[in-house]
Amino acid sequence: MRVCVIGTGYVGLVTGACLAYIGHDVICVDNNEAKVKLMSSGQSPIHEPGLPEVMQSAIAKGKITFTTDIAAGVTHGEILFIAVGTPALPDGQSDTRYVEAVARSIGEHLHDGYRVIVNKSTVPIGSGDWVRMIVMDGMAAQGGSSKAEFDVVSNPEFLREGVAVFDTFNPDRIVLGSSSDRALKLMQELYTNIINREFAEDKTLSPVPVVVTDINSAEMIKYAANAFLAVKISFINEVANVCDRVGADVVEVGRGIGLDSRIGQKFLQAGIGWGGSCFGKDVSALIHTADDYGYNTELLNACVKVNQQQRVLVVEKLQQVLKILKGKTIGLLGLTFKPDTDDMRDAPSITLIDQLSRLGAKVKAYDPIVSQSGMRDGFSNVIVETDAERLADGCDALILVTDWKQFKSLDYAKMVPLMANPVIIDARNFLDRASLETAGFKYVGMGR
Ligand code: NAD
Ligand code: UDX
Repeated sequence: MRVCVIGTGYVGLVTGACLAYIGHDVICVDNNEAKVKLMSSGQSPIHEPGLPEVMQSAIAKGKITFTTDIAAGVTHGEILFIAVGTPALPDGQSDTRYVEAVARSIGEHLHDGYRVIVNKSTVPIGSGDWVRMIVMDGMAAQGGSSKAEFDVVSNPEFLREGVAVFDTFNPDRIVLGSSSDRALKLMQELYTNIINREFAEDKTLSPVPVVVTDINSAEMIKYAANAFLAVKISFINEVANVCDRVGADVVEVGRGIGLDSRIGQKFLQAGIGWGGSCFGKDVSALIHTADDYGYNTELLNACVKVNQQQRVLVVEKLQQVLKILKGKTIGLLGLTFKPDTDDMRDAPSITLIDQLSRLGAKVKAYDPIVSQSGMRDGFSNVIVETDAERLADGCDALILVTDWKQFKSLDYAKMVPLMANPVIIDARNFLDRASLETAGFKYVGMGR
């Protein structure tokens, strides 16, 4: 099928590349020229495992091209994905200006034929009808010459960064919100190979469930899924804080409750709290939407508050050990919001850097993917080292911030003599306490 994906960020590029890989003819449109140039040469502008291979295979087969020309993309695609960002505005509501610009532009370039316009971006509930109106405005700007027809489908995305390619080929479900049978049929056809598990290692799995529903419910499913996961993490973090006081181990507690199939093992890792580009903004947007309709979301407000406290708690734990932080050197192991990504959006490390700097500490960091030049403006005070031993050198404490796999196998015994004070705050409960203590570290975990 002919597909156009507009916005080639973490979602759009992965979606476009994977659809091309499975045989669709894809044009990816982005208004960032430098990105388009890079992608056209087979390079990914983001760190996402497996993505360059998928892109290069699709390019070699002539299945994908990249352009800044939205008119070309709209003319080409029978299915048009909107996958631009929807960041949070200062008051928490979703900033839909990029979706609006793209929807208008689609309308301005729709001249004839039938299109399915897919909201892949996470958009506030009610955006399906809103996008339809904006596209029609765009078409009207052609002066009545457009003979095109279209339907809008909500197809929210659930991929996780770091495993985005795997998730795209092996989703837990596909959600399709629309009132048009014609559009729904085309969407099911688009995803046929994925629905039939052609890319799953285990071929005995039953097909991927497809949730066909109305647009508003599809949009709500996306917000409710992220909010539930964020609540689950805030819940285990609250349990961890009680564990700290009563002398229980939250890792054991998580294992013990997670074996109850109604609870499940996943998303019960206590630590520094959730971050990333989605949870914070999507929970805030849902709180904001509820508020618009006169409902106060007590549970979601508490979920956000617990998460904010959890980041600060890591600094408090450090203060309990080191007392005065002014003049001390603190080394952060990891900067990204989770492993296997280069994404720093709403990363807990940013809060730590802010807090520690405010308290007069000198902050150093080492991350397998983020270099000194990758630190955004405002963080020039952080020295980004090129390996963990250089990081440890002269530090009064280390904080394990991101659970990168390679941090498990660092030579911690070699780091102890390099440090002014061998303290480690394991803010993800990720490292082996016994071996760190044997190596000479004072180990502090979260709720254990
Ligand atoms: P992103 O910021 O990484 O990428 C957005 C891209 O859109 C950028 O490349 C930007 O240059 C481009 N763009 C902006 N305006 C444009 C325009 N007018 N024309 C063409 N291109 C334009 O965003 P993302 O993280 O991929 O998120 C996209 C959407 O998907 C958001 O709504 C987000 O909530 C949702 N989502 C993200 C994730 C995730 O893990 N990142 C997961 C699920 C859903
Ligand atoms: C999330 C959703 O999982 C995904 O479905 C949606 O499409 C986008 O948002 P992502 O942000 O990529 O995905 O990462 P995720 O694996 O969900 O982790 C989010 C944050 O929660 C990370 O900061 C992670 O470290 C933290 N986390 C996760 C915990 O603190 N404890 C856990 O048990 C799990």
